[in-house]
Amino acid sequence: AAPVTYQSENATISQGVVESNHAGFTGTGFVNFDNVTGSYVEYTVNAAQAGTHSLTFRYANGTTANRPVNVTINGNPGVSNLAFPGTGAWTSWQSVTTNVTLAAGDNVIRTTATTANGGPNADSLTVDSTTGNPPPTG
Ligand code: GCU
Repeated sequence: AAPVTYQSENATISQGVVESNHAGFTGTGFVNFDNVTGSYVEYTVNAAQAGTHSLTFRYANGTTANRPVNVTINGNPGVSNLAFPGTGAWTSWQSVTTNVTLAAGDNVIRTTATTANGGPNADSLTVDSTTGNPPPTG
């Protein structure tokens, strides 16, 4: 299946706000995590098949400090302290990709800030089933 992009402004947000004051975002805005440990953005994504999927987070971090988040999948540990390094400006958007295992059907992917700085400004999450599921051979 083709990659699907989920906008952060449509996600479930705990301790964060949707804003649009830094240009370059996609959709109608981005999520500004509150600057606290534990603030999170939670996406519900659909996987046609169980297995490895790539998650690509589009983000901005106008500071020079990493803004790591823990990525959990359906409440289970996924990726710890996924790094979101500085992008040079709040208007400079970059991507971070990681691979996780998803179940078939809906999956809840939560990204939770692990430092008192909170997470980066979160624009979107793109889920690609192709990367981990190459076409069968033979
Ligand atoms: C600034 C910036 C916000 C950002 C915040 C932060 O206030 O304008 O978009 O979220 O810094 O440090 O998290």
